[in-house]
Amino acid sequence: MPLARSLSVTSLSGLEEWDEEFDREDAVLFEIAWEVANKVGGIYTVIQTKARLTCEEWGENYFLVGPYMESSVRTQVELIEPCNATLRRTIDKMNSSGCKVYFGRWLIEGSPYVILLDVGFTAWSLDRWKIELWENFSIGVPWFDREANDAVLFGFLTAWLLGELTITTRECDEPPHIVAHFHEWLAGLGLVLCRQRQLPVATIFTTHATLLGRYLCAGSVDFYNKLAEFNVDKEAGDRQIYHRYCLERAAARCAHVFTTVSQITAIEAEHLLKRKPDIVTPNGLNVKKFSAMHEFQNLHAQSKARIQEFVRGHFYGHLDFNLDKTVFLFIAGRYEFSNKGADIFLEALARLNYLLRVNHSEVTIIAFFIMPARTNNFNVETLKGQAVRKQLWDTAQTVKERFGKKLYESLLVGQLPDVSKMLDKEDFTMMKRAIFATQRQCLPPICTHNMLEDSSDPILNCIRRIGLFNSAQDRVKVIFHPEFLSSTSPLLPVDYEEFVRGCHLGVFPSYYEPWGYTPAECTVMGIPSVSTNLSGFGCFMEEHIADPSAYGIYILDRRYRGVDESCNQLTSFLFQFCQQSRRQRIIQRNRTERLSDLLDWRYLGRATGFRYPRPASVPPSPAHSLHSSPHHSEAEDEEEPYDEDLEVEKDRVNIRQPFNLPNRNKNQTVGLPEKN
Ligand code: UDP
Ligand code: G6P
Ligand code: GLC
Repeated sequence: MPLARSLSVTSLSGLEEWDEEFDREDAVLFEIAWEVANKVGGIYTVIQTKARLTCEEWGENYFLVGPYMESSVRTQVELIEPCNATLRRTIDKMNSSGCKVYFGRWLIEGSPYVILLDVGFTAWSLDRWKIELWENFSIGVPWFDREANDAVLFGFLTAWLLGELTITTRECDEPPHIVAHFHEWLAGLGLVLCRQRQLPVATIFTTHATLLGRYLCAGSVDFYNKLAEFNVDKEAGDRQIYHRYCLERAAARCAHVFTTVSQITAIEAEHLLKRKPDIVTPNGLNVKKFSAMHEFQNLHAQSKARIQEFVRGHFYGHLDFNLDKTVFLFIAGRYEFSNKGADIFLEALARLNYLLRVNHSEVTIIAFFIMPARTNNFNVETLKGQAVRKQLWDTAQTVKERFGKKLYESLLVGQLPDVSKMLDKEDFTMMKRAIFATQRQCLPPICTHNMLEDSSDPILNCIRRIGLFNSAQDRVKVIFHPEFLSSTSPLLPVDYEEFVRGCHLGVFPSYYEPWGYTPAECTVMGIPSVSTNLSGFGCFMEEHIADPSAYGIYILDRRYRGVDESCNQLTSFLFQFCQQSRRQRIIQRNRTERLSDLLDWRYLGRATGFRYPRPASVPPSPAHSLHSSPHHSEAEDEEEPYDEDLEVEKDRVNIRQPFNLPNRNKNQTVGLPEKN
């Protein structure tokens, strides 16, 4: 590697004056990532959900550093004056040297301080910095790689900020210890520069994936069996990402502490980045935010009603299935077709469709694909569906009002109404017109948007191949929403959390997934999910739960089985799930939600050795439940509470605080020294 020439990885250069141990009160933590206040994928979730707890622990000594993105700043950040004199001086100095550095509070739980660097404003330095990168590290970044150019600008700006800060604090009597935690290759160059410039900064690098891993898996490579054999330089070169790979590997090698988010990615990093992570730090969630305590079942019902409303519009004219017997499945995340397992999900849906049809099942499945792709907005047919539904609703309301008025007038004069005269000709005309509007010449659309690359889109092409076209005979219907969800959408106005709550099962059969927040988020909302034994989350749950599927955590075997076999296993999970009664689903959701603590940032790291026992209550398999549950009718399925609640409470008491949580000192707010 070019970098090995210039830097000694093992030396603590620049940190000589640090004591063996230091008090956190004398330290300042900077956490640096491209996804600070900038939503792209899971790294944003890591930082956002951890913020409250980190603020509690580090008080005024915690700063997030990210890129300045105007649209995000407008909605998420309150720009303020720097919170202390040292920072003010540092930022002023940079701003007077041709940078644009902003300071503010990120408006999320914990309201952490953010320092935002405008990379576009400093683009004039790009060539100079690239030359420096080449001369010092032999890493050449091509002009056309926009993301890598941003990484260069962001890296140099971060190192500038930290360098300037160390100069300013050096003048203090007791300069604070500075810890800088960098996430992912896009932020990694800042770390490399800190080491090369020998700044007195302790550095941590967390990788959330490896570039090569992502690229190799997206092709048809037997990745996990060949990990030790890849010629990494050649593979990176073949994929034209050698420069990015060098930046990533340099950051991993230079960090004082190197971490990653799961064991599986630790092994990958050892082979592909040639350094074994010092520690694995699984990703958590801010569980308080998600767990709606005993309300989460009600929230499911409310959110489901909103999704049902959307479905009524989407399938107008073809609503020949019972919405009360419809199960909502979904997959969501960045659009990496095979890495995220959308390929085998579709294949399993086709098989499920066949099984449901031959078994004359009354259940209908609607599978949502929420994966952002390039589009030019919603398509007309989809928008029309919601308009037609609204028109039917409005018609029903108008007729109802007219009906009510006649009824009222009849009662006022002491007469029972003549039912045959309650609806007049005008009412019928109005209703007929509304019904006529629901006629449709085409099948309900698969995709909600106009895709820019329609003919080469992998999801659409796969659907064309397997023939799942939302026809009346299909028991499995598909809706592809190629945009992240938002409560301001004119089509499906729900945010992602609400959507997840309203669904029945999240399906994430990933082949490449260092952690996988999506199934974790399902869990803390009490929604069962499918993940795999190739995802960090799946492996973590396997390690900590004796019988994951009893808790609604289905872990697909993609490690020891071929694609076809995994597909069959997924089909069988889905088929079993569809056969559950409402009551069984409710029981299962209760169990899933009970795992929340395991994924809480507050307990992660204390979970070592802990294993959730098999639930004391009845397993949710349909066969077993029929024997062990008291006789119940379909109507009973609707109702709660039932005996199971008692069992739930028993289990809850057992595992409420599984990990010893030491008291935290919440008042440590020393801050950077005030010095003018
Ligand atoms: N997500 C979202 N809106 C959506 C779909 C997904 O905000 O409509 C978020 C989801 O909450 C999760 C993240 O996208 O936190 C995806 O993270 P994950 O770790 O699963 O995958 P990554 O994209 O980082 O590979
Ligand atoms: C929650 C609600 C119940 C509702 C049920 C529907 O548990 O509290 O009132 O009947 O959800 O469950 P389902 O799995 O059919 O969406
Ligand atoms: C990456 C990974 C994802 C992980 C996230 C947060 O984007 O693809 O699996 O959950 O980072 O660590």
